[in-house]
Amino acid sequence: MREAPTLPNFVQLPVPAATSAVAEAAAGLLRPDAALSPKFFYDALGSRLFDAITELDEYYPTRTEAAIFAEHRQAMAQAVQAFWQHRHAAAPLSMVDLGAGSCVKAASLFDAFQPARYLAVDISADYLRGVVSALQQQHPQIEMTGVGLDFSTQLALPPELLSGPALLFYPGSSIGNFAPDQALNLLRQARELSADGGLLIGVDLAKSAAVLEPAYDDALGVTSAFNLNLLRHLNRLMGSDFDLRQWQHVALYNQAAGRIEMHLASRQRQCVRWPGAERWFEAGERIHTENSYKWRQDDFESLLRDAGFLRVQTWTDSRGWYAVVLALTA
Ligand code: AVJ
Repeated sequence: MREAPTLPNFVQLPVPAATSAVAEAAAGLLRPDAALSPKFFYDALGSRLFDAITELDEYYPTRTEAAIFAEHRQAMAQAVQAFWQHRHAAAPLSMVDLGAGSCVKAASLFDAFQPARYLAVDISADYLRGVVSALQQQHPQIEMTGVGLDFSTQLALPPELLSGPALLFYPGSSIGNFAPDQALNLLRQARELSADGGLLIGVDLAKSAAVLEPAYDDALGVTSAFNLNLLRHLNRLMGSDFDLRQWQHVALYNQAAGRIEMHLASRQRQCVRWPGAERWFEAGERIHTENSYKWRQDDFESLLRDAGFLRVQTWTDSRGWYAVVLALTA
């Protein structure tokens, strides 16, 4: 007789009406300095284009982070286990994956970290469904849940989904999309959600523009397509009539602000229309689509301490381009 398969749970948490995506995009386009949230990159094609970016020679963050985990995951796991035994005695380890996507990064840590529970959080529970179900079959001993949640403005989970201490996992340097004050706010919420647990986070470090700019403006044009796809996504989402041929990808390192900026520049004077409104753009006028902050290691460690993580341990690659930081609450 066949054993009953272990099945994960799935929960889609409601998106508050005021932050409805269409209203948010329209408001961003109507600002004098037009700006859109980078979350609009990630429709189905956008997610594939991002995956393609991670394979580019110029885009070093993904493979650099992977190398750091490959070399140090045992040391990271030992640090977490020592803390858990000391602080939480017999409490099982819950791992919360923020922006889980394909879940491959977290899954590669299961053997070392041995979590009892795994919560995969991503903007869409639908996408998680297939991924977490497959993962659950490979790891029947881990209790898995897929949670649909946009945590970019507020990071919290209902107590029926998570109780007790947790290790939050936030790889990929997505924290770079947040300005320092917003990042501090998110990390404070992470500390709260961890309930005297910890955070394992990847962050891209400051480096020369000669390395950064090609990483966001590659020779093959994949990042340009990724940026322009945002307009294609908006056309479907809000019924706008962006002509993608009339926009140009721009990536620049803003040294003073310590961030890469991506913009879409209008190739000519033009009007964009959507149901209920329109917006004129001058030739050369830009829509700001992304900030990707690059941190100095000591500044990022200070940020974590300001957020209430008392013990901070960092692993980097030999070039010092990227950091994986374990932040514990005691
Ligand atoms: C997913 C936010 C980490 O900032 O490097 C890649 C997104 N944008 N190329 C980054 C991105 C253009 C990426 N993050």
